[in-house]
Amino acid sequence: MSSKPSAVEVRRQFIDFFSKREHRELPSGPVFPQDDPTLLFTNAGMNQFKDVFLGTGTRDYKRAVDTQKCIRVSGKHNDLEEVGVDTYHHTFFEMLGNWSFGDYFKRDAIIWAWELLTEVWKLPKERLWVTVFSGDKTDGLPADEEAEAIWLKETNIDPAHVLRFDRRDNFWEMGETGPCGPCSEIHIDRGDAVTEPLLGANPELGVNAGNERFIELWNLVFMQYNRLGDGSLKELPAKHVDTGMGFERVLSVLQGVHSNYDTDLFAPIFARIGELSGQTYGEDETRDIAFRVIADHMRAVSSALADGALPSNTGRGYVLRRLLRRAARYGRQALGMEEPFLFEVIPAVADVLGQAFPEISGRIEHLQLIVRKEEESFGRTLGRGIIQFDRLADSVAKAKADTLKGEDAFELYATYGFPRDLVELMARERDLKLDASGWERAETEHRNASRSEGAFKQLLSAEDLEGLSPTISTYHPNLESLSAKDFEASLAGRSKVVRVIGEDPALLILASSPFYAESGGQIGDRGVIEDPEGRWSFRVDDTKKMGAVIVHLGELSGSEPSAGDAADCKVDRAHRLPTQRNHTATHLLHSALREVLGEHVAQQ
Ligand code: SER
Repeated sequence: MSSKPSAVEVRRQFIDFFSKREHRELPSGPVFPQDDPTLLFTNAGMNQFKDVFLGTGTRDYKRAVDTQKCIRVSGKHNDLEEVGVDTYHHTFFEMLGNWSFGDYFKRDAIIWAWELLTEVWKLPKERLWVTVFSGDKTDGLPADEEAEAIWLKETNIDPAHVLRFDRRDNFWEMGETGPCGPCSEIHIDRGDAVTEPLLGANPELGVNAGNERFIELWNLVFMQYNRLGDGSLKELPAKHVDTGMGFERVLSVLQGVHSNYDTDLFAPIFARIGELSGQTYGEDETRDIAFRVIADHMRAVSSALADGALPSNTGRGYVLRRLLRRAARYGRQALGMEEPFLFEVIPAVADVLGQAFPEISGRIEHLQLIVRKEEESFGRTLGRGIIQFDRLADSVAKAKADTLKGEDAFELYATYGFPRDLVELMARERDLKLDASGWERAETEHRNASRSEGAFKQLLSAEDLEGLSPTISTYHPNLESLSAKDFEASLAGRSKVVRVIGEDPALLILASSPFYAESGGQIGDRGVIEDPEGRWSFRVDDTKKMGAVIVHLGELSGSEPSAGDAADCKVDRAHRLPTQRNHTATHLLHSALREVLGEHVAQQ
């Protein structure tokens, strides 16, 4: 590339490359799943396609391309501690991805990736390294010789630059269970490849050794298994491709800068932080970390708030509150910002991210209002935290001891957001020590608690989902276009049993269903599903959806139905109609609120 391409151009080049190869261009999914409070944030581009990989959902296209808003701050993929300290981790980042749903597999994925990098973007191949899966004994999986052979025989990569790594690096899994498969990663050497050409293969200094010289650019995942709850692997019904490229990283490479934070995705945000604080990025490492933390966290918070999240004391709201406090604290400690200022960074964030995600630029005022309120309340909390610290320190002094109990001191972090180094500093000022192992114990417990928050808890386990097809929905809303007679008829129907799972509540899955499954606004239908021959009857207390599978929850009486049994469905009309009216009324209220208060009103 001769001149430096902008972020907007690079994003477009990626999308156009795959659009030309018959991929459907899709908008990013939201940064957190709207209907699933148990998954805190979208942590990979594939989240919105999980049902397709498992075979429980379908799309009307077989290839797709997009840039997905991702946040990695909890659960299996968590980069928070690295953020700000190094120059290439983020809580919020964009993942460029191309997808094949049961269509092309390893060969096209590898050849196209290589073509885009080396022919379109003209990255020198001497700087590129790739990795393939070396196999795993426990899982009984062989090395991925197929991918390795494609790299070696069908691209012009230097054979010495193809390396094997084990499951930690080259077997991608979304969570504890779910779709997974071997992957092939492409890394770039940003160091001096001329004087030390083979350093990439050095286990201490090279690829996957955790340094800033060799960084991963693109991960090509070959989805072919489902990890079940007992840890075993089951072949998926079809094979898929899920690729994810770190947009900020590839941009830094193409713009010829050493850090993601030196690209035009960050420069305008740094300029704004500079204006507000009177400091300049690039002059002092401590202040630079603060600039990076603030810019990163404000990108994450702005995108989550724009998609409808709110700071709170639990779940994803708590994560957002912690990010805001971490940013505010860095602002105070490193940049001397005593007053709320993060809200004034938001317009700069919206300028940059709005190019790809217009939902952010459309809600600036709303975001500013929320962030300002959070900053004000954090200001008060900090004051209370200091009082709490004084109490703690006084009681230690009174007991003529010299050590703050770790568990108590950790509360200053958990409740008031005080980092460990600040607590240690305050302790030193009063000639006290901090009991480090107690702090660490409390921290581990706290982390485990927030990890389980982020786990993919779901209605059906990976085993339950195994082999299910989408349920055919015969649900009809009570529309004017439907005659009263047809509407009544739509509340009943004959179907077939697919599977019954567990009890309390029992879950019944049918081939087709007239029951409305809760999603977003309206709660699920109730009613009865019965054997026409009277051997069993299932009282439906609620209806939910897992991907495209409709799940009836309730109680079974009589004998156990078998797969293939006929099933007569009757939706409870007396429950459906008022539910539907309430749902309509909510929409009317929402629309009135938007008219009076503005477009930023969001239904929660
Ligand atoms: N799912 C893979 C990842 O997140 C590739 O998109 O790295």
